[in-house]
Amino acid sequence: MKSTFEEIPEQYKINNLVHQNTYLVGGKLIPWAGETSEVYSTISSTEDYKPTLLGTIPTLGEKEALSALDAACSAYNKGKGLWPTMKVENRIACMEKFVEQMKTKREEIVKLLMWEIGKSLPDSQKEFDRTVEYIYDTIEDYKQMDRDSAKFEKNSGVNAHIRRGPLGVVLCLGPYNYPLNETFALLIPAIMMGNTTIFKPAKHGVLLITPLLEAFRNSFPEGVVNIIYGRGRTVAAPIMQAGKVDVLALIGNSKSANALQNQHPKSNRLRLVLGLEAKNPAIVLPDADLDLAIDECIAGSTSFNGQRCTALKVLYVHETIVEEFNKRFSAKVDALKFGNPWEDGSKLTPLPEPEKPAYIQELIDDATIKGAKVINTKGGETTENYIFPAVLFPVSKDMRVFQEEQFGPVIPIVPFSDIEEPLDDMAESNYGQQVSLFGKDVKTLAPLIDTLVNLVCRVNLNSSCQRGPDVYPFTGRKDSAVATLSVHDALRSFSIRTFVASKDNDYNNAILKDLMDSKASNFVSTDYIL
Ligand code: G3H
Repeated sequence: MKSTFEEIPEQYKINNLVHQNTYLVGGKLIPWAGETSEVYSTISSTEDYKPTLLGTIPTLGEKEALSALDAACSAYNKGKGLWPTMKVENRIACMEKFVEQMKTKREEIVKLLMWEIGKSLPDSQKEFDRTVEYIYDTIEDYKQMDRDSAKFEKNSGVNAHIRRGPLGVVLCLGPYNYPLNETFALLIPAIMMGNTTIFKPAKHGVLLITPLLEAFRNSFPEGVVNIIYGRGRTVAAPIMQAGKVDVLALIGNSKSANALQNQHPKSNRLRLVLGLEAKNPAIVLPDADLDLAIDECIAGSTSFNGQRCTALKVLYVHETIVEEFNKRFSAKVDALKFGNPWEDGSKLTPLPEPEKPAYIQELIDDATIKGAKVINTKGGETTENYIFPAVLFPVSKDMRVFQEEQFGPVIPIVPFSDIEEPLDDMAESNYGQQVSLFGKDVKTLAPLIDTLVNLVCRVNLNSSCQRGPDVYPFTGRKDSAVATLSVHDALRSFSIRTFVASKDNDYNNAILKDLMDSKASNFVSTDYIL
């Protein structure tokens, strides 16, 4: 495998470090002169391998974290705040102002995505563009929601004007693999619905938020978006312990989600919007189109080096075709190009977590001691910031690679003779996000689909697992998710139905008419936004 150093194109060189020396609280970018943490890329800028320093971020403490909580609480102001009571069209105008400014930062953010998390250039561009599209789609969906609720209902002599209202203060924590897109998939709908927010960027993929701080500051009223930096334990824990957070919005792993939830003293106050880990299987049936199944399994298990919650993390292949599958699959894995994110055709790129190659090696060692083999030639080849995907076969339940969510480049293949074997494993698993099912015969597929939809939340027929398109529901069972994300669902996950009701009589009806004619209430309104 080639070393990680390549001639870096001029436009992608790190010429200036990003020193993030402010944090956003209460509408102000507050200067920070205290302790800072250095942010490194595992990508080398020199021929002799050396991590590249990208910049620094503030290491904030409990005091600053609680000041962000205070700012978010003040902006919500017990439901009286400017933002939670604002007219829908004015909130939309703020969001439009934000996204217009965000679009001007594409180049800077894409470059930082490549350096901070090692995502390839096309995928980094896609992450940015998909996020902008998500914001526009959210605005459109919100308008539709507003149009749908611009009316009164009457039942059993009671008039009702039903809308969706904000939940309160949202603490938002995103993951390193989609530090822009998934964080914004939480933050944007949370803001849009009138909540106030505290957002702490992920450990890797933190400097790419810097180009957006000014846009957040000047687009939304003070205290609606507060952005803090530091260690989760130091800043997120005291915020939860204060008991004033209404929603914990987190994409990451269930251990951190559980630890944070448990800090909150009022468990019924706390709503949860969580996207957590998964161990999505592929099931390849004897009559599957092997070329198609192999291509989809390659994409599913290796894109972004397997660092996706939706990645295929275990492949069940029927014993009658497994030999042929393994031969062709392994050859295709070995043909994938490893390189720096900006290099043409790089399918495998450096891992942002310095400790990841050693962890993947542990999984390989454990599996090989217990009887599996690395069946591809390059599997396990290691450089300073990478370990080439190892295809392991035959994998059994006692191996760590079967039990743990590897979130990295190692691909376990489990042979099966009876379809009940993968189905039983899925039922026993702590996870339940998606599955990929490869086959053709509808008599076999039909009962399988009917069962699989009850074990996971998306059955991908003859294709790899994925979250998109973002208008489709994205959720999971068990330790894989709480609540549902998608353009449409996220607006609902971050809000609650709330309404004004009055008995249907002349006295009340005259007041309602007055309320609407005067346009004095932002909630009671039957105006349409076109
Ligand atoms: O990390 C999990 C992501 O939600 C996966 O999203 O399927 O678009 O890569 P994706």
